[in-house]
Amino acid sequence: MKAILALDQGTTSSRAILFAHDGSIIGVSQKEFTQHYPKPGWVEHDATEIWTTQLAVARDVLKQHNMDVSDIEAIGITNQRETTLVWDRATGEPIHNAIVWQDRRTAADCDALREAGHSDLVQKKTGLIIDAYFCATKLRWILDNVPGARTRAENGELAFGTIDSWLFWNLTGGKLHATDVTNASRTMLWNIHDGEWDNELLELFKVPKEVLPTVHPSSHIYGETESTLFGKPIPLGGAAGDQQSALFGQNCTQPGMAKNTYGTGCFMLMNIGEEAASSPSRLLTTVACWDGGKREYAYEGSIFIAGAIVQWLRDGLGIIQSSSEVESLAASVDDTDGVYLVPAFAGLGAPHWDAYARGILVGLTRGTTKAHIARAALEGIAFQVADVLDAMRKDSGVAIEELRVDGGAAANDLLMQFQADIIGARVVRPKIIETTAAGAAYVAGLATGFWKDNADIERIWETDRVFEPQMPAEEVAQRRRRWAAALERSKQWVE
Ligand code: G3P
Repeated sequence: MKAILALDQGTTSSRAILFAHDGSIIGVSQKEFTQHYPKPGWVEHDATEIWTTQLAVARDVLKQHNMDVSDIEAIGITNQRETTLVWDRATGEPIHNAIVWQDRRTAADCDALREAGHSDLVQKKTGLIIDAYFCATKLRWILDNVPGARTRAENGELAFGTIDSWLFWNLTGGKLHATDVTNASRTMLWNIHDGEWDNELLELFKVPKEVLPTVHPSSHIYGETESTLFGKPIPLGGAAGDQQSALFGQNCTQPGMAKNTYGTGCFMLMNIGEEAASSPSRLLTTVACWDGGKREYAYEGSIFIAGAIVQWLRDGLGIIQSSSEVESLAASVDDTDGVYLVPAFAGLGAPHWDAYARGILVGLTRGTTKAHIARAALEGIAFQVADVLDAMRKDSGVAIEELRVDGGAAANDLLMQFQADIIGARVVRPKIIETTAAGAAYVAGLATGFWKDNADIERIWETDRVFEPQMPAEEVAQRRRRWAAALERSKQWVE
């Protein structure tokens, strides 16, 4: 049986998933890897460990399912985005740990760039808000802080890449230095309108052109794996950053279609079609998967804390023993009894962008129990999603009547029902919730002809459950008013 091998290199684990032609999952292999926190606010990964765990899971899933390598039609890559790496072109050795997207070490540099008035230029060209989240200031930090790096970079001795580039490089034995458009769009160095590295931005962020990878569409034959890795070469059929991959995996290929992934945080993306419209509500404008034909774009809203709030209930408060208990605890009461939990533990992302906000629990009375707090925690996730969805509705002028969901917390029925209630739209959970890996499999399978076209892929996508909004409009409005009031109290808290 022919299959596509999706490599899903995420923030906490490397995974390999085999997809059959009917879209079903043949097998999964997964390995966690080490998180490094050298200083408060800094987060790093050992790039060698990323590669060795990724290769190990790829080999493992093939072995477990007795797959003949010649039956692997192609490999598709999806990856944690923005995580920034520089390596030596001659030896293939990284010159520094990868600086992870969550790392805040360049926050002050970003403040200075904003204060110097560069926000508009950056936003117009890249669709991004100047923030330490993206690659540009991380790359500059590496070039300025690793001895000799800047000179070596200018001499063409070093390569910069996001994690997709690093995997391509290693999968081809150092023959390929490339990235895809979705990953390039998160570097803050690439112009999303003309689809080129931007000289003015390279100048602004002091990045020499010599370090940059070549950019290709997401669905594209990039090359093939070095034959010693799996015994025979396998075509490399595509790559996409994980959130754009999930958008494609959810089949959100028409303007107005949106998905939300409930992970540690939430990433909501909405297809906005062929025009890279900017967002007055300060959502990001980003690139959706391209196949070499039409160029499509998306709005993106990032929420920093979502599933992490459940971990906090477990590890910080100790009111549940395992994350799965949250649903039954929250369901043991009819409502939160007026309690609101704003999980701004790491500030607020879109559309508020307040790095100085902090978490807040309000409305407590002598009658408040841990069940009310658990319910307020789940509702806090849904309210944040509603705020982003409102911004998308406002900026796009599209009503958005359906939100496709995936990620761990999408399995929580109570949360999904409340989500539908509070956004006043259908929440649709697909049967295959491995949508991130599915998106990577689809872009690769489309490049080789394993799947003919988008219509061929749309047939694979099936609904598991639809949550229809049920809450009376008046109650929704009242709750959202209270949420907005709680949110205001959480803002600008850090002195
Ligand atoms: O932008 C960061 C995002 O791509 C990370 O996703 O799923 O690895 O946490 P994840």
